[in-house]
Amino acid sequence: MDYLQIKGVKSLNGTIEISGAKNASLPLIAMTILAKNSVHIKNLPDVVDIKTLLKLLTNLGASCNFHDDKVVVDTSTITETKATYDIVKTMRASILVLGPILARFGHCEVSLPGGCAIGQRPIDLHLKALEQMGANIKIKSGYIEATAPNGLKGCNINFDKITVTGTANIVMAAALACGNTTITNAAREPEVVQMCEILNANGVKIEGIGTAILTVHGTDGKCIDIKEFSVIPDRIEAGTYLCAGAITHSELTLSNVEPKHLVAVLAKLEEMGSSFTITDDTITIHPSKKIKPVKIVTQEYPAFPTDMQAQFLALATQADGVSIIEERLFENRFMHVSELQRMGADISLNGNIATVSGKNSLSGTDVMATDLRASSALVLAALVADGETDIHRIYHLDRGYDNLEGKLKNVGAKIQRLKE
Ligand code: UD1
Repeated sequence: MDYLQIKGVKSLNGTIEISGAKNASLPLIAMTILAKNSVHIKNLPDVVDIKTLLKLLTNLGASCNFHDDKVVVDTSTITETKATYDIVKTMRASILVLGPILARFGHCEVSLPGGCAIGQRPIDLHLKALEQMGANIKIKSGYIEATAPNGLKGCNINFDKITVTGTANIVMAAALACGNTTITNAAREPEVVQMCEILNANGVKIEGIGTAILTVHGTDGKCIDIKEFSVIPDRIEAGTYLCAGAITHSELTLSNVEPKHLVAVLAKLEEMGSSFTITDDTITIHPSKKIKPVKIVTQEYPAFPTDMQAQFLALATQADGVSIIEERLFENRFMHVSELQRMGADISLNGNIATVSGKNSLSGTDVMATDLRASSALVLAALVADGETDIHRIYHLDRGYDNLEGKLKNVGAKIQRLKE
């Protein structure tokens, strides 16, 4: 197994190019199931989750050709409609194939994703919405068995909670349904918006894109032609490297970034003392000498993202004063706290609220990555820790960060990948 060894540094300097967004790429790859043509996708990140989803599609009979940051996916050859446990257990987002496969083939089986390090993460809202669209759903031997022999029917769906992959799944199902589907309390994340825009530009009319009420005009079972497109930049990867600039007091420039998607993150970094030079597709962070404490509540987009909570917690250990970070989306998303405490962080946890009393001097030690974003929090802490930090179980990091050690090395970090 690989691990990362990081030595604390004085400062970083240079430019980091941001990759395509993992969380946009996954639903967009699943969306190719709705296409009758071979779909060309550009600006994909080279991360394990993307390869996992392409493997899932390949197992179903699709052909996927992934080179550099491009893939060509042909789903016209799909013969299987069962997403098996061996793949789904490694990536919960596999559930994204349920809506489009059911809509196209009238039946689909997907292994139940099971537990997850950051919380229960049920998929009840996906299933309830598909049932409303006329699907018959049974849970049998750990699998969701969904059938809709006469196709899915458009209807009104109200999500009790905002769900990102739930919204994407139902938009894809609704795209091939008969009639119109109106989704209320839809997710407005940029990743969902991009999928809606692409469908809308390729024959599936969608109203309300970017709002909480989406109306999808179904094609009544007809597959669509999807023209080549490029995935939006990864706002979470960008946010993570902005935190790297802030925590090491270093001026860093990010290229190929979409500043509009980072408003909440930039606002919190500004509160903590950083300033920025922003162009259409670059952000340069001018960090402050002293980091100010902050109050953060994670919420759905456009509010502060839960996927940046762990990184800001690491940053708060270097702020002068008391920071309060409240996690509202996932009940167990504080696994990184005990690892940061091992490095010397003064963090107390009360339910879903973490209180960080900074500034803490951190020291390098052995720590364990527990989930994707928790891993990047440990990387940030290691950058400013005294001595050497070994971060184990970095397969979590590899699921979602494209060439993290190469990108950080380029700007002066002392980081290397080693084998246990
Ligand atoms: C997506 C992102 C993940 C991010 C999360 C929240 C992808 C691949 N993953 O995950 O990185 O952290 O959004 O921004 O895009 N819920 C239910 N029932 C459901 C579905 C969700 O109760 O059927 C709850 C969840 O437990 C959670 C909340 O709704 O508390 C939001 O979850 P959701 O938006 O669905 O997260 P994901 O789409 O899994």
